[in-house]
Amino acid sequence: MRILQVASEITPIAKVGGLGDVLMGLSHELSWKGHETLALIPFYGLIDTEQLIPEGRVDWFDTEFDKVKQRACVTYYHTHNNISIGLLDTASGYFRNRQTIYGDGDGIASFLFFCRAVANWLLTTQRQIEILHVHDWPTALLPSIYQILSRGKAPFKSVLTIHNFEYQGRCDWSDIRRAGIDPLDFSDPSILNDPIHSCANLVKAGLLSADVVTTVSPTYAREMVTPEEGQGLHTILAGLGKKFVGILNGIDYAFWNPEIDTYLSKRYSGSQEMEAVRAAKLQNKARLFFQIDVPLLPDVPLIASITRLVKQKGIYLIRDLFAQAEELNVQCLVLGSVPEPDAKQAFAELDRDLRRKGRGAVFLMSDEAFAHRVYAASDIFVVPSLFEPCGLTQLIALKYGSIPVVRKTGGLADTIVDVEESRPTSNGFVFQSAQSTSFTTAVTRSVDLFKNKVAWDALMLRAMRQDFSWNIPGNQYVSLYQSVL
Ligand code: GLC
Repeated sequence: MRILQVASEITPIAKVGGLGDVLMGLSHELSWKGHETLALIPFYGLIDTEQLIPEGRVDWFDTEFDKVKQRACVTYYHTHNNISIGLLDTASGYFRNRQTIYGDGDGIASFLFFCRAVANWLLTTQRQIEILHVHDWPTALLPSIYQILSRGKAPFKSVLTIHNFEYQGRCDWSDIRRAGIDPLDFSDPSILNDPIHSCANLVKAGLLSADVVTTVSPTYAREMVTPEEGQGLHTILAGLGKKFVGILNGIDYAFWNPEIDTYLSKRYSGSQEMEAVRAAKLQNKARLFFQIDVPLLPDVPLIASITRLVKQKGIYLIRDLFAQAEELNVQCLVLGSVPEPDAKQAFAELDRDLRRKGRGAVFLMSDEAFAHRVYAASDIFVVPSLFEPCGLTQLIALKYGSIPVVRKTGGLADTIVDVEESRPTSNGFVFQSAQSTSFTTAVTRSVDLFKNKVAWDALMLRAMRQDFSWNIPGNQYVSLYQSVL
């Protein structure tokens, strides 16, 4: 099959959250399974092309923005894993001039322009694809824009994946016009109307125009059709019936695997003896604590959180828990990116508190190498999200033998089974209510079990040996693509 993935992020060259990891992981798996796959994103200024291998191919074409004709191009690269990536920009460097991915207030108009340009590129080059797979609000309108420009003659089927329903691309009608598309050009312009506010809603139009819609876990798919999690679009989603499915994300074990991880001081894997795994994890922990200048308490569990510091992630539950590090007798580490202003202050305070007590530290940044080292060094990994479409960090933590404590929601509920259920798949600790007391109880259960070396070893081993690779989800996407062709 010939598949085009179009999105706003791809790991490692342009990543804010899990969307980037999914784009890379899924593209990798589809290519590996023999499908011709190209991932296309804007050529942002922050992209370091040193990480890519140029193919020496460029497609030039004409497009339009703000009523001005623009010369634009797609430049082809591939990664060291041989994943094909296309980077789109204008001759005047519209995207290269942008230093952030989601922009400062003008993000929506710029992604509408990106979609418009992708549609023009497809039409000009007549690139043969069977599946156009778009992701979240930034590219949700691309299938419709293509339909409009091609006068309803799309030679491919379209798939829209929702990674986070909270972000719907609500915008002004003028943003759509800036991309040279008149809302009246839609065969049914009302599909653009936001159900609550008087504005356009890109995700809503995407849901109603894609051939099939997916989200990133079966439980989140069920939650999205409820009024509580449906963000005003639950009835529309429910109306899609079988056209809407949840497919659990995978993890790219070429990248997240302690056996081959070059960022670690000492590599290890679930196929080794537990003594060796413990020794390797301790060595990684000692090195990390030396780097971050916190005294290591070797027999005390290290609890970690790696997250975007936004409310969705239950960050105030994390702050309240880590403030009790001494009482719980644990050490704590937070690696938090893109903090909201309140969160920035709260976590800066937490950092001072943890460091003063010699109980850990907080890092307000995103750093891929550091993240790998934190997964390897940690014993317990917390993900107390208020809602979580899939969640990738708990899956990575499992592979690195760091046991997840998660809230029972979305993809967390689909991947983590509480040890108290004593099932062969039990791999962590699960709590229900988004309250500090429930979270602390679950963490306390994990800290208690950590003291039982035999039980903990068995749990770690089971976690590390579980398979959350892209193999199964990759097959599910292929079947889904085939079902619409
Ligand atoms: C978003 C969601 C997260 C999901 C990721 C990749 O970041 O919040 O739950 O894992 O997308 O699909």
